[in-house]
Amino acid sequence: MLSRLNRLAWLCMALSFSWSLGAHAAGDGAPGDPALGQKKFYTCYGCHGVENYRNAYPDYAVPRLRHQHASYIVAALQEYKSGERPHATMHAQAASLSDQDMEDIAAYLQGPEPTKASTVVKGKTPTQVAACVACHGVNGLGVEAELTPKPAVIGGQHFDYLSQALTAYHNGRRKNVVMDGMAQLLKTDEDVKIAAEYFASQESPLTTATTGSK
Ligand code: HEC
Ligand code: HEC
Repeated sequence: MLSRLNRLAWLCMALSFSWSLGAHAAGDGAPGDPALGQKKFYTCYGCHGVENYRNAYPDYAVPRLRHQHASYIVAALQEYKSGERPHATMHAQAASLSDQDMEDIAAYLQGPEPTKASTVVKGKTPTQVAACVACHGVNGLGVEAELTPKPAVIGGQHFDYLSQALTAYHNGRRKNVVMDGMAQLLKTDEDVKIAAEYFASQESPLTTATTGSK
């Protein structure tokens, strides 16, 4: 009972926080140009355009970016650029991008936003993800409510990328006002594995951004 109450407390706190940040929406500059973004993504294909390309030390799949939310992509690139989100290679990549480059790349990667995220679920929803669905949707594809910051699409993302992201929030290497608390709800490595497996196995528009991907 106590742990259930704790969960609810976390959730309420995180939700009110995320909604109160509404004024901060990404994309204050000119809207992104997807055609320019595709050109600017040229150097990125070397890793993000190769199916199952892997990060070395630690070993995990490079995240799928095609059809990820534009505002999340911009936020991630800004965090790599500032060093807030630590990753040497992505810092080097993001450091040379202007705000407009990021908007263009994000517009290309997202593509036209689906009018309504699918609510189809594959498999049984584990109790470990009970709190997650409030923001990520029951299948990791998001919810209709306009949340800011916009949660990442996690349905259909690589399993080992999701696990390492959750572990990084858990141990404080990656910081986010919302996810730091959420990651603590997954108490054990087994909980992380179950949550990551569940979301990774969902049907999703998220794909590798190959040069030909639509
Ligand atoms: C040498 C390989 C490599 C190249 C080149 C590269 N990336 Fe990455 N990228 C990665 C890895 C590995 C990660 C995961 C890092 C982490 O764990 O935070 C990542 C993460 C990201 C993320 C965060 C995704 C998420 O779900 O949080 C974005 C956005 C991104 N890259 C965009 C780009 C863009 C744009 C470029 C080109 C300007 C680029 N990357 C070039 C390897 C690369
Ligand atoms: C209150 C809303 C909220 C809840 C609840 C929530 N998340 Fe998140 N999640 C977010 C936001 C916002 C982000 C983007 C954070 C960032 O930029 O680092 C995110 C990011 C993530 C990421 C990183 C994705 C990537 O591409 O790197 C993972 C993995 C994740 N969440 C899993 C979960 C799991 C598992 C749970 C439940 C235990 C959960 N989240 C609960 C809002 C939420």
